[in-house]
Amino acid sequence: MVTCPRLAVNSEGLLFNMRRAIYPGSFDPVTNGHLDIIQRGCKLFDEIIIAILIHPDKTPFFSVQERKEILADVLKDIEQGGCTVVVDSFEGLLVQYAADREAHAIVRGIRAISDYEYELQMALMNRRLEPSLETVFMMPAEAYSYVSSRLVKEVFQLGGNIAGLVPAVVEERMRQKK
Ligand code: PNS
Repeated sequence: MVTCPRLAVNSEGLLFNMRRAIYPGSFDPVTNGHLDIIQRGCKLFDEIIIAILIHPDKTPFFSVQERKEILADVLKDIEQGGCTVVVDSFEGLLVQYAADREAHAIVRGIRAISDYEYELQMALMNRRLEPSLETVFMMPAEAYSYVSSRLVKEVFQLGGNIAGLVPAVVEERMRQKK
């Protein structure tokens, strides 16, 4: 029996060291940009844990449970190759959660230079807290370089068209909430 969560058995029955990454965020809601990053991450990692931050001080559009359901739903439709994509939520320090899940890396998407400063600050703080954990920055397709959950919500709430920015199921669930 394999007891170390980092070890897995490949198609030839051989043990290998599984590359596991955490993709943390609010995902309120998940956008096509997030899905693009997940697919790119799948080329680098054997397992990606999408970790939704539980933020007690924030009033989200979708509850954590709803975001989990939506993510599980949209992930059924995306090409993951041989990668396992898991949806979870976490509270507290990200580095602690990553250590608990025996992850090798944190994946974050960077859309523009404006994201870089905040992301660099977080990556360096996380490195200070846990030097063995790497942060991997990935760039989404140009088509999603301006897409954010915050803007999607704003445009939607003001009656604008968000088709193509989020999966259809997200748009549908947003309409049901209105
Ligand atoms: O999608 P977001 O809201 O930009 O994601 C931000 C997130 C969840 C990655 C960040 O807020 C985070 O990691 N929070 C967990 C608390 C923590 O570890 N803080 C120190 C980070 S340097």
